[in-house]
This record gives sequence, structure tokens and C-alpha cells, in this order.
Amino acid sequence: MSEPRLVFIKTYGCQMNVYDSDRMADILAAEGYSTAERPEDADLVLLNTCHIREKAAEKVYSEIGRLRALKKSARTDGRDMRIAVAGCVAQAEGEEILKRAPAVDVVVGPQSYHRLPALLARGARAVETEFPAESKFDHLPERGTAAPGPTRVLPLQPVSAFLTVQEGCDKFCTFCVVPYTRGAEVSRPVARIVEEAEALAARGVKDIMLLGQNVNAYHGEGPDGETWSLAKLLTRLSQIDAIARLRYTTSHPRDMSDDLIAAHRDLDKVMPYLHLPVQSGSDRVLAAMNRKHDRAFYLQLVERLRAARPDLALSGDFIVGFPGETDEDFDHTMQLIEKVRYASAFSFKYSPRPGTPAAEREQVPDVVKAERLTRLQALIAEQQRDFNAGMRGLTTDVLLEKPGKHPGQLVGKSPWLQAVQVDAPRALLGEIVTVTITGIGTHSLYGALADGNAHERAIA
Ligand code: 5AD
Ligand code: SF4
Repeated sequence: MSEPRLVFIKTYGCQMNVYDSDRMADILAAEGYSTAERPEDADLVLLNTCHIREKAAEKVYSEIGRLRALKKSARTDGRDMRIAVAGCVAQAEGEEILKRAPAVDVVVGPQSYHRLPALLARGARAVETEFPAESKFDHLPERGTAAPGPTRVLPLQPVSAFLTVQEGCDKFCTFCVVPYTRGAEVSRPVARIVEEAEALAARGVKDIMLLGQNVNAYHGEGPDGETWSLAKLLTRLSQIDAIARLRYTTSHPRDMSDDLIAAHRDLDKVMPYLHLPVQSGSDRVLAAMNRKHDRAFYLQLVERLRAARPDLALSGDFIVGFPGETDEDFDHTMQLIEKVRYASAFSFKYSPRPGTPAAEREQVPDVVKAERLTRLQALIAEQQRDFNAGMRGLTTDVLLEKPGKHPGQLVGKSPWLQAVQVDAPRALLGEIVTVTITGIGTHSLYGALADGNAHERAIA
């Protein structure tokens, strides 16, 4: 190990970027880096970028502009600060970043971050955005090796964790950059995922969110040499005693196979929550988006899922104002939402992403997009309120994760992924407790410990 150094990592975008940043911290820990709280303290500033939203690249360039000033003042103090850009903007822009931003030392795509130490060691400015032949997962150190820096208070030991099982996408929806930035679909072997889940469990993790851009297309190599489905993987992970809760995201309707639907019925540890984006309720728009499913297929799928797990909390993604979307198309989306009744959803105005087919098409005016988005979000908010209101009086399990808003409160997660504020002693942090829901707020539920929880038994 070389001399101690500090890295500051700034993460944009999705849950997979959060996972990737964590793993990059592990890789850099092996090079002597611990984590800094502030960029001005760091020897290396790493931006883990996201390309899904509009002007993503512009935002990265302006962030680099701010860092350039820090780099300059570090140099005045006789220190060397290096800047690395990782993630999907790095992949999409590549060399362009080195050209436009002289302050940047290293550009590394999401499939190449295991090469970060080698790129840094080169000394010269470097870019690595070719999709490598090897899997980065085979070159990562053990998880959780990253140490907090000298100024850092040790964080609470988390009880929930992300675990990437699949990456990339072969679907090529016409609005989406993911197949270009994350590359083709790749699934990690079952044995490696089980190893990582067992290591998380040994560190006190009880709740795992499996990640993949198209997670339910998972087809990893099993220990028996066969190809395993996500349902089979969930069955195997359910056997890890200390893991109590499993979820997965994001799923494509086309890949929601019979065995996965059955897993929601048969596996107690698979939580009643599913993020299942539909994007639009109009068949015309779905076809133009190249979604590979229509409205009827989606609605039937929702019925089958609810037959397997009646209390399933459904979440989704919606795009409004996709090129060619008429008022009638949008009405179809609103009608689909009425039919499905979501527990939550994310919604976006369509934004043209350079290099994707839909970016070339005639665009819907922004005022129209904005008006549709407002209406859609109001409907989703109403459904979310109804879903949450249905919980009043219910007694359910809550995993207590961290201190709550007020002293004497802890905040946890319900099986349906709602935040629950509970009056509970700190000693119960990290425990799954039985809670009766007593109140419904805008962003969280309120609950009281039910009789028979471990601490009450201890006191009695
Ligand atoms: N414009 C608007 N929303 C988009 N999404 C992906 N690409 C675009 C785009 N070009 C949304 C989709 C996807 C979510 C992660 O982001 O709804 O499911
Ligand atoms: Fe993008 Fe998801 Fe479509 Fe893949 S399935 S192209 S990740 S929206």
C-alpha cells in the first residue's frame, strides 16, 4: 500500500451509480485512498456522472469548472489535486472531455472502472471508454474495504444495501442512452452474487436491492453450469438466513417471466414492491418508443402480478411529450394510470438525447409537455396518497434504518418501501420490529411499536 491519500466522490443519477461509487472507493482503498468529506481536502476528486437527463454533459462541465479553481489553489499550496470523470457522461463524451476540460486528468467509462488505478498511475492524462473484454467484477477487491478519512465520523453500519447483478441493456428504447453508455446486457455469475450477499449479511445487512438496468432479464451462470433466471437467484438468496428482505430494480415488462411472478407469491423474503415502468399508455407511442409491449400486455401482466401478490406496491416511470404524442395518446396514459393504481411513480418530460433515434423526430412543444406532466403528477400523487392512507391501522414489519426526524424517533422501511417514522429506542436500530401504523404524512407514515417486540419482551 502506498502513502495515505484522500478521494472525494460525487455521485449523480441512479442507484447503480451509488453502487459503482462504493466499489470505486473500495478499489481506491487498495491504493491507499480513504474518503474525504469535502473536495477541497482531496488529492483526487471523482465525478461519477449520469447521462439520462437533459444537459447532463453541460452540468458536468460546469462542475469541472468549479473544481478547476480548487485544483489551482491546491497547486498554490504545493498540493496536487487530480480530477477523474467516471460514469455515463464519461462513456458518452470520452476524449471530448479531455479536449474541453484541461483540468481533467482521467476519463473512465462505467465498464472500465477497475482500471482506475492503472489510469491514475500513468501520470499522463488518460481516457478509457472502450468496452473491455474482461468483466470489471472479476477485478474488484472485497466489498466494504473503503475507509473513512481522518476527519470523518464513522457512519452508521447500514442495514440496507444495493447489489448489482446485471448491467447494460439490449432493448434499445428509442429515447434511451443506456444501451450506448452501459453497453450490452451482462449478468454476473450466481456464485459471485451469493458471495457478495453473504459478505453483506456478515456485516449486518438485512435488506438487499438487486440492481440491473434490465434486472429481470438476468441470466447468470449458475453453480450447476446452467443459466439461472432472476427467480432462481432470488430463491438462492432467500436461503441466506440473515437476509430478510429482497427487492430488485429496474424491470422490463417483457422480461417478467412466469417463475418471477410466482416468486412474488412463493418467496416470503421477496418484498411486495415492484418498479415496472410502462412509459406510456398509448399503443402508438409504445410502438414508436420500441418498447416491445403494448398496453394490453402491460395491464394483463399487472393482473397476473396482483393475482400472485394482491398487496403488491407498483411503481413506474412515465415519459410525457414523446415525439408524436397527441392529446389522445396522453389520455390513454392517464387512463392506464387510473386502471393500474400506482403506489408511486417517476415521471419526466421527454428530452432528446443525442444519438438516440427519437431525438431526430419532430418534438412536442415544451408548454404541452409541462401541462401534461402536471396533470400526470397530480394523478400519481393522489394514488400515492390513497395507497398510503390504506395503511392506517395496519400492523406490519418495519426495518429500522436510521435516526428519525425528532429525538426518540427512528425511521425505517415498510415491506412496500414506504418510510415509517417510529417512536423507538436507539437500541432497536437495525432491527425488524412490528409496528402499527397510526398516521399518514406526505412523505412518510407514522407508527408505534406494537406489543411483543423484542425490547418490550426484554423490559417485561
Ligand atoms: N427523456 C425523458 N425521460 C427519459 N428516461 C430515459 N430517457 C429519457 C429521455 N430521453 C426516463 C425513463 C426511464 C427513466 C430511468 O428515465 O422513464 O425509465
Ligand atoms: Fe433504456 Fe430501460 Fe429501454 Fe433499456 S429497457 S433502453 S434501459 S428504457
